[in-house]
Amino acid sequence: MTLHHASIIGWGHYAPANVVTNDDLAQYVDTTDEWIRTRSGIRERRFVSEGETTSTMSVAAGRAALEKAGLTAADLDLILVATSSPDYLTPPVSSQVQEALGANHIGAMQLTVGCTGFVYALVTAQQFIATGASKTVLVIGAELISRWLKPKDRSTYVLFGDGAGAVVMQATNEPCGILGHVLGSDGSGAEHIIVPAGGTAMIPTRETVDQVVIRMNGREVFKFATRVMGRALREALDKAGLTVDDIDLFIPHQANLRIIDYAAKEAGIPREKVMVNVQRYGNTSAASVPLALCEAFDTGRIKPGDTLALVAFGAGLTWASAIVKLGVEIPALMQMEEATVGEA
Ligand code: UT7
Repeated sequence: MTLHHASIIGWGHYAPANVVTNDDLAQYVDTTDEWIRTRSGIRERRFVSEGETTSTMSVAAGRAALEKAGLTAADLDLILVATSSPDYLTPPVSSQVQEALGANHIGAMQLTVGCTGFVYALVTAQQFIATGASKTVLVIGAELISRWLKPKDRSTYVLFGDGAGAVVMQATNEPCGILGHVLGSDGSGAEHIIVPAGGTAMIPTRETVDQVVIRMNGREVFKFATRVMGRALREALDKAGLTVDDIDLFIPHQANLRIIDYAAKEAGIPREKVMVNVQRYGNTSAASVPLALCEAFDTGRIKPGDTLALVAFGAGLTWASAIVKLGVEIPALMQMEEATVGEA
């Protein structure tokens, strides 16, 4: 079977306009700006306002990615939406997105893999393209975590934020795409990040409604993250036949600056090759890697032909890494380069 390459040809994000600073939170949560900054690196996050939902953010990010790719929804043949906070338990948010984008009757699926979801979805998209089953796939990571935060629970309330990021992946003859990846899961750590009620194990009733919130054992997740990130990165690099020196930009899950710094240092990646925006968005779960990826594209930190290393971890517990080689013929990137040269 001929395997097809997959190129990222468009990207786009949506960040709610409502910026909530650490000082804003400190007015109603028992915390301080200093504690949040030193323990997590976070300075502010976005929370949705009335009318914004996971589907509206997904659609906005998806439209922006399609526009960047110079495509319309009619060009897509698959939509993947990674989220743990869909508008409804059912239907899947991916069908709401398909309908709102006007992508008629193509396959659309929601992947729920915690904060790791976008990397899982990207790898899934690449498999569909590699086998020839799909040609053009929209991959979205979107999250409205703020609805699941309990303001009195300072161990979670200060850490998370809302947002969405998306990419368009398309079959190409250029030798690029995901050169190596790792998908991992260890369900023995399930209780470390959990929304106990709201599913079928504990349906929401008057008695259980306060348990429809995120509970997290931060210390355990911290230890897990520092254990798996370096390993997932090394394994994906091995599969790609590359070394750390081949990475142009490391784009880790944006949960905590200390975790990012630890993983980069352990892997021997210099700070200038690490994408960090956790200070402005907090932990946006499945939206975190695509938000960081989009910002890296938009701020000129990514060049055609670059090799990116995406690594994420989260609820499950789960982890995933992907070594992504970009094509040299990405029209949107080439246009950005021309515009910069034009300005100079
Ligand atoms: O996407 C995956 C999801 N999650 C993560 O990646 C989270 C990973 N874990 C972390 O990022 C860190 O463990 C946290 C930022 C959550 C916490 O940092 P830490 O250095 O592990 O702090 P800690 O949980 O050990 O708490 C230290 C102290 C405690 O007080 P005592 O027991 O030492 O008196 C907490 O009660 O800080 C207290 N504390 C707070 N104080 C002010 C906990 N949360 C807060 C808060 N403000 N928001």
